Amino acid sequence: MKLSINGHDHEVDAPADMPLLWVLRDVIGLTGTKFGCGMAQCGACTVHVDGAAIRSCVTPASALTGKQITTIEGLSSDGSHPVQRAWIEADVVQCGYCQSGQVMAAAALLKQKPAPSDADIDAAMSGNICRCGTYQRIRAGVHRAAELIKVAGSIEEAGHVA
Ligand code: FES
Repeated sequence: MKLSINGHDHEVDAPADMPLLWVLRDVIGLTGTKFGCGMAQCGACTVHVDGAAIRSCVTPASALTGKQITTIEGLSSDGSHPVQRAWIEADVVQCGYCQSGQVMAAAALLKQKPAPSDADIDAAMSGNICRCGTYQRIRAGVHRAAELIKVAGSIEEAGHVA
């Protein structure tokens, strides 16, 4: 199957029912996307498909031919996506395991809604579990990213966004 990941085409030799998570990690070697529950319950495996957040642990890779897949490695070319910058400024991360999923969920939210309310953030991020309980800092990080987007004029102008 042919997959477009982070702007590059990959010819992947994998079973049709293999979840995207394992294609990313074990076949292609992109290990920034994490395995948490394997049942679409925790959000650690969140990536974007055509800009929307999906759970890669339960999505067969073969269903994604012809679509644009973006992982944490491809969110920006240099870590300058406004969510990545805001996460560093707000010191969001504790252990870090869930955070690539958190960042991808936040980036998808801000693409849809560049100035989300607390309720918007809580609704969009509710499926992303953080065992360290960094939820307050996640919310602050999303608000900070929204400020960066507002000042720059767009999400693209706020960073080198894929
Ligand atoms: S590993 Fe996919 S949602 Fe938990």
